[in-house]
Amino acid sequence: MTVASVLLVWQVHNSLIAGLDTAVTQQVQSVAAQAQNGELQAHMPNLEDGGPAVQVVSADGQVIAASNGLRQRGRMFTLAGAEGEAVTATTRATGLGPDAKTWYRVAVLTVTTKQGPVTVYAALQTDSVTDSTAELSAALAVGVPVVVVALAVVAWLLVGRALQPVEALRRQAAAIPASDLRRRLEVPAAQDELGRLAATLNDLLSRIQASTGRQRQFIADAAHELRSPIASLHAQLEILGRRADRAGDARGAEWAAGMIADTRRLTRLVNDLLALARLDANPKIHRQTIDLDDLVLDEVRRAQGRGVAIDAGAVSAGRVLGDPAGLARVVRNLLDNAVRHAAGRVVVGLRGDGRSVTLTVSDDGPGIAPADRERIFERFTRLDDARSRDAGGAGLGLAIVRDVVRGHGGSVRVGDNKPGARFTVTLPAAD
Ligand SMILES: Nc1ncnc2c1ncn2[C@@H]1O[C@H](COP(=O)(O)OP(=O)(O)O)[C@@H](O)[C@H]1O
Ligand SMILES: [Mg+2]
Repeated sequence: MTVASVLLVWQVHNSLIAGLDTAVTQQVQSVAAQAQNGELQAHMPNLEDGGPAVQVVSADGQVIAASNGLRQRGRMFTLAGAEGEAVTATTRATGLGPDAKTWYRVAVLTVTTKQGPVTVYAALQTDSVTDSTAELSAALAVGVPVVVVALAVVAWLLVGRALQPVEALRRQAAAIPASDLRRRLEVPAAQDELGRLAATLNDLLSRIQASTGRQRQFIADAAHELRSPIASLHAQLEILGRRADRAGDARGAEWAAGMIADTRRLTRLVNDLLALARLDANPKIHRQTIDLDDLVLDEVRRAQGRGVAIDAGAVSAGRVLGDPAGLARVVRNLLDNAVRHAAGRVVVGLRGDGRSVTLTVSDDGPGIAPADRERIFERFTRLDDARSRDAGGAGLGLAIVRDVVRGHGGSVRVGDNKPGARFTVTLPAAD
């Protein structure tokens, strides 16, 4: 708009000057014609009527005719004229007023008269042009910024409005969690680009859902299919072990025992995989009212007798809505880890405050470095060194804990027990 304004002012200035040029050229031509006909001085335009200032100068520089008032004041313009065609130019000359020089647009033409060659000047002051362009420039200087600001505001509002559906789509897409791919975006009614975008995104979601569904189904099927051969292997190995025992084959009995331990770990792994696949496929759980304290005490009983003292004295009543098998798994996984890492003592606590129920499992083992406290909840994360790995699982225990707890609308975190680790599970209480 600045460039356009400058061009506009320039254009207006040029056309006003062209108007002056026409007037002074006509004047100069008519005076020149009078001079040639010997009628000079008769029809000189009057300066006070706004007419052009006219001077006719002889070859020796004398003003021989002029508009009234200019006859005596001497030669105003020194531009050289040419014969035949009038020339126009902008020049400065002393005006009629007492003071300094002003700008004139002047036309000059030389003609030959009976007295010899004379030069005719006709001039108009350019103040009207200067004033007009100054006024126009001032108006533009104020108007252009106002218009630009107004346009910016309107554009901002219009673009914001036009992009609103995009933002709405974005918000919907952002709200779809990876765990619930059944959700879809609302497709706008209009069959425009946005409608097609929403439809395409929904299509993409369907494909992702189908593909993750297939993947989960595959894991679940694979885990399920693995269970029976492992169980059968386990049974056969037990028979083999007993036979070796009876035959007094100590070496064989030892191998069989090792293989039985391996099949146990395999079973645990397959069960964990199956549990995770089920949690992935259906995070919504079948809920029933559970006395969490009973469940915790059952699991404590199961974990007893592994060389670690388990103190369940701080277990008080806590009732939650949830899936008993899933929550038992949570307690068992936490207890297994604690017993495995404890130096000699594990403390289990449970308390409810009406709004939530909090389960803590603490041990006096090596603890977990702050940097690892988020990582250990990921699948297949094990921090144990290779030696103690054999005792643990495949690193799925805490991943299951987190998935189950989240499925119940709760949270799990790990902190310091000084020394040792303290896992805290918070679940919404059943009212
Ligand atoms: N009570 C604990 N004390 C120290 N480290 C722990 C404790 N519980 C879990 N961890 C660490 O977190 C890792 C992940 O635990 P988990 O998911 O149960 O896998 P796993 O028991 O199969 O190794 C473990 O390998 C272990 O290094
Ligand atoms: Mg574990």
